Amino acid sequence: MTKPISGFSKLSKEQKIDWLATHYTTNPEASKQTIAQYWNQNNGLQQLHDEFIENTITNLYTPLGIAPNFLINDRLYAIPMAIEESSVVAAASKAAKFWMNKGGFSTNVLGTEKVGQVHFIFKGSFEKLTLFFKSIQDILHAESAHLTESMAKRGGGISKIELRNKTKDLDHYYQLHCTFETKDAMGANFINSCLEQFATTLKGEALTYANFNEDEKHIEVVMSILSNYVPNCLVRASVSCPVEELKLSNEISPQLFAEKMIRAVAIAKVEPYRAVTHNKGIMNGIDAVVLATGNDFRAIEAGVHAYASRNGSYSSLTHAEVKGGIFKFWIELPLALGTVGGLTKLHPLVKLNLEILQNPSAKELMQIIAVAGLAQNFAAVSSLVTTGIQKGHMKMHLLNMLNQLGANANEKAKLTAHFKTNTVTHRGVADALAQLRKTS
Ligand code: MEV
Repeated sequence: MTKPISGFSKLSKEQKIDWLATHYTTNPEASKQTIAQYWNQNNGLQQLHDEFIENTITNLYTPLGIAPNFLINDRLYAIPMAIEESSVVAAASKAAKFWMNKGGFSTNVLGTEKVGQVHFIFKGSFEKLTLFFKSIQDILHAESAHLTESMAKRGGGISKIELRNKTKDLDHYYQLHCTFETKDAMGANFINSCLEQFATTLKGEALTYANFNEDEKHIEVVMSILSNYVPNCLVRASVSCPVEELKLSNEISPQLFAEKMIRAVAIAKVEPYRAVTHNKGIMNGIDAVVLATGNDFRAIEAGVHAYASRNGSYSSLTHAEVKGGIFKFWIELPLALGTVGGLTKLHPLVKLNLEILQNPSAKELMQIIAVAGLAQNFAAVSSLVTTGIQKGHMKMHLLNMLNQLGANANEKAKLTAHFKTNTVTHRGVADALAQLRKTS
């Protein structure tokens, strides 16, 4: 059995790779080659990536694709998407094209409020705590002024600090529930710094508060941290058109298609097993743009799924209806994003992707990303209720299979043509390649 290692982070990159390949892989030389293959030849760029995290050994590439022709509020966008799943970019592009000549996507931001909390234990009277909290309001703001100064210049800062009594849920548990406006920054560092300052002020002021007894003077701060649940940092995106314009193919009438879409969304609203997959399809589009723009997709995922369960049962993020002969399809979801700070200036491709998106503000990026999610869902559900997804999906997957089987460029071209009219299966592709090799 491999022994634990101490001081791993202090080793050089080569030493780390050596240790790893020797102890955890069956062919250390081949493993080291694979790792080295993905180093960037430009040393400066590789060093930049090495320093993003600790113990970097190499880079894991994800393809960056472009979905063009997104008409959003009368402006055309080409959307960069970083994703490994074969059919996502193609599906987004198809939906963008479909809606482009029907007025495109309309969007609006419903709120930009960010949240953070100081969780603390107080063993005493809530009335006294309330009076104490009122008495320190100005001090909380004054002692965090050095942190809020530059955010205030950009029009942001602390919106509200509230005392919340949570003792019904947990003995002696209270919170400072705080809301912030962070403008174009995602704001995690700003919020967390403010919260830690609030915690220090809270504890310090309690120690000298004359009306507290000895127990009450010792507030125990458990933690101070932003929340990734941001139900008031909300964006809506929609598409609509007269039902008769919903002409997807000759195989299904616009009326039947509209009915099937509405029913599919209705199922995702009431059935969590379906809702999770329905929303996963939405997140295919959302995460790809979140990643391409250097934002935190884990934060987005956590916040979006919590929002999808806000009424007590996990449900669809999209909605569909026909009213007065107009089909409408829309999404509403929370997205806490940044277009300054973080990786936005540091990662050359993130910087370029933001430029491709016309250097959006955080509010504009919320709208673009909501559209990517809506388009993805429209593409997925429209396939599901008509042809099924496997046909398109396996066609997109064909190249992966051919690469896996070691097909050369000529074989790939011939077999891609062959499978335009034949069903793609793993077995079918392997057999067709074997047959081609036999005959040529
Ligand atoms: C696959 O990545 C996403 C879908 O399953 C989404 C859906 O079912 O709506 C196709």
